[in-house]
Amino acid sequence: MNIAFFSTHNFEKDFFVAANARPQFKLTFFEPALNQQTAPLAKGFECVCCFVSDQLDGVTLQLLKQGGVRLIALRSAGYNNVDLESADRLGITVVRVPAYSPHAVAEHAVGLLLSLNRKIHKAYARVREMNFSLERLMGFDLFGKTVGVVGTGRIGSVFATIMQGFGCRVLAFDPRPNAELASKGIITDVSLEELYKKSDIISLHLPLFPETRHMINASALAQMKREVILLNTGRGELIDSVALIEVLKTGQIGGAALDVYEEEEGIFFKDLSDQILKDDGLARLLSFPNVLMTSHQAFLTKEALEKIAAITLQNISEFGAGNKLHNQVHAKTHIGKKQFGSREGNHEGT
Ligand code: NAI
Repeated sequence: MNIAFFSTHNFEKDFFVAANARPQFKLTFFEPALNQQTAPLAKGFECVCCFVSDQLDGVTLQLLKQGGVRLIALRSAGYNNVDLESADRLGITVVRVPAYSPHAVAEHAVGLLLSLNRKIHKAYARVREMNFSLERLMGFDLFGKTVGVVGTGRIGSVFATIMQGFGCRVLAFDPRPNAELASKGIITDVSLEELYKKSDIISLHLPLFPETRHMINASALAQMKREVILLNTGRGELIDSVALIEVLKTGQIGGAALDVYEEEEGIFFKDLSDQILKDDGLARLLSFPNVLMTSHQAFLTKEALEKIAAITLQNISEFGAGNKLHNQVHAKTHIGKKQFGSREGNHEGT
């Protein structure tokens, strides 16, 4: 089968080439994102392999269909960027990678916390400038602190376990409590209000649903401790960034470490270093000394990429062989107008 990759990043190409060792498929890598303008590039390919930055709306899907595409293999867990109703109507099958490495994301969250707290990113820059002063680099011990984990699924449970290893007390909130973690004494389930009130560090590991959009808003932030460190490796829209900027301006929270941002589309994953940043919210967030941001890189480990490549090609093989598809997504898994994933763990993001 001929596969056209869109939004190809250098970091992932080799993993797909290695996973296709036999070689089973003909892989063609395109750098541009897939959209209505670039869809003609897929003419003559049976399968397109897409990333979260590709826009698979009704018109794009129609163009893909006309060009002969029968399968969309998402190399991501999320599928909010695909108009599933149109795909179903056009008879285009959609498959995805539901889970790859919860450790990758959880460990990145811990890395952000350690960097922000101990100011390692600042110390690194200072020392390279021969500035060996320790002024303004003080952090706090994680040992003995209370960590609130919102969402104790795959990633949240790994994060909670790591934080327990640091000697933290871990409070958790999840509408479907993780009984195993609780029975092992790793977490204590509490209400969201109690978690906000008691936590020194709060980490978000829940999916974006219409009802979780902006769950961290002015009212939630007002319930948190004044020194709280907020971590978000979940999804940008979980946090109302305007409200976050307000509390950062007034010093009402200790800091924020963010791998995701609600307006990241069109910005993250790109080198814009020679351009003027047009997003004032992002520019303001980046101006705070107590904000640390990465551009949606929490998933980016060797193990995660190996798994993404292997599962994606496995999904395509199943389709090619006419076998049962284990990772297919249908319009019926769609929630609401804009699809934010299902309770079965279908989430957007990477
Ligand atoms: P998961 O489906 O295993 O766990 C999510 C948990 O959140 C579930 O236990 C669910 O019951 C819980 N939940 C649902 N609604 C909630 C609510 N209102 N309050 C609290 N908890 C709630 O998902 P997984 O694999 O742990 O991923 C979590 C999120 O991480 C994803 O939804 C995705 O947005 C994000 N992610 C980010 C990546 C990155 O590179 N930054 C990479 C992969 C995922």
